[in-house]
Amino acid sequence: MKIGCPKEIKNREYRVGLTPAAVAAYVRAGHEVFVEKSAGIEAGFPDAEYELAGARISHEADEVWQAADMIVKVKEPLPAEYARMRESQIVYAYFHFAADRELTDACLKSRASCVAYELVAESWGLPLLQPMSEVAGRMSAIMGAYYLGKHNGGSGVLPMGVPGVAPANITVIGGGTVGINAARVAAGIGARVSILDVSQKRLAYLAEVMPANCAPLFSDPLTLAREMAASDVVIGAVLIPGGSKAPRLITREHLKTMRNGSVFVDVAIDQGGIAATSRATSHDNPVFIEEGVVHYCVANMPSAYGRTATLALSNATIKYGLEIANRGLKDACGNDEALLKGLSTHKGELLVKPVADTFGIKRKCPKEALGL
Ligand SMILES: NC(=O)c1ccc[n+]([C@@H]2O[C@H](COP(=O)([O-])OP(=O)(O)OC[C@H]3O[C@@H](n4cnc5c(N)ncnc54)[C@H](O)[C@@H]3O)[C@@H](O)[C@H]2O)c1
Repeated sequence: MKIGCPKEIKNREYRVGLTPAAVAAYVRAGHEVFVEKSAGIEAGFPDAEYELAGARISHEADEVWQAADMIVKVKEPLPAEYARMRESQIVYAYFHFAADRELTDACLKSRASCVAYELVAESWGLPLLQPMSEVAGRMSAIMGAYYLGKHNGGSGVLPMGVPGVAPANITVIGGGTVGINAARVAAGIGARVSILDVSQKRLAYLAEVMPANCAPLFSDPLTLAREMAASDVVIGAVLIPGGSKAPRLITREHLKTMRNGSVFVDVAIDQGGIAATSRATSHDNPVFIEEGVVHYCVANMPSAYGRTATLALSNATIKYGLEIANRGLKDACGNDEALLKGLSTHKGELLVKPVADTFGIKRKCPKEALGL
């Protein structure tokens, strides 16, 4: 198969779809790899390292898109890339369709086979979302702490306090991968942390593994309201599996109960966000204020730590990428249920039920679409 890795064009996106080690793995398996010039430069991988691994460097993005049977990238295609997708081409990337109707329509129109990283699902979890959730979760606590600074528009509360002065209260809503990583860093810097979830099983696990300054709590409306009112930082880390939009758990009334200059980091913004006030921001202009609360809603947080994020992502995507390249899409999906769940569009058909429900579009069963 011909594998293509274009340079990311999203604002401040520093990650890249393939590392030189991933290129070497595809080449070893007998595939050809085309990498756009400077695609990995922001993640610390110069073209020479890709060439050494066996890639061909292409000077134009169009060359890569035209040559490739499978595009491996990080973020969803942007409008400038829509026309580059084509029928029979596999696009292997994050998509988050439910948050973006225009993207969904463009992928359907292109008739490309889009495999969404965030929807590849093993029985134990989401293997391609997990590494970025680890990065974003850890980073969300750092961002919360940073924007508490008065000079950054915050309330001026030092997260870890000082002798004689209490630390900040940090509430994490959603105790999955983002949540546990956020809570760990928040607890590690000395804040008083609560982590809310609706899964009893997950709460029992959190109670076992989290330190004493982190309280796992069942997320009911009263507890949520009480914790928010007492919080200096709130981190949104909820996910409804399967591609649904994030639930809007936080209202303007909740935000009004918080101290002015408190911070809300909505990591779940890539699925639409968990607050009525959430709207996606970028690394260029990451925050805005609503109801006196600083909102940080960057949809591609891990890009800020692009080298770590690229290495972690590529470590995870290579397994399924090789399955597709070695067996072809139909055979690979027929052989691996986890991968089949990630196949979201194919020959103009939408295959993911929650996305179809969100937009009122007809959905086809993935097996039927592939002729399995
Ligand atoms: N902004 C970014 O750059 C970025 C990066 C990585 C991940 N994310 C997003 O972060 C979100 C969380 O991802 P994750 O990997 O932690 O998912 P996850 O599935 O590991 O965890 C989600 C948790 O939310 C809990 N939950 C569901 N409904 C809830 C409710 N009503 N109240 C409280 N908890 C509830 C679930 O029980 C689960 O434990 C996703 O939307 C993901 O796409 C964003």
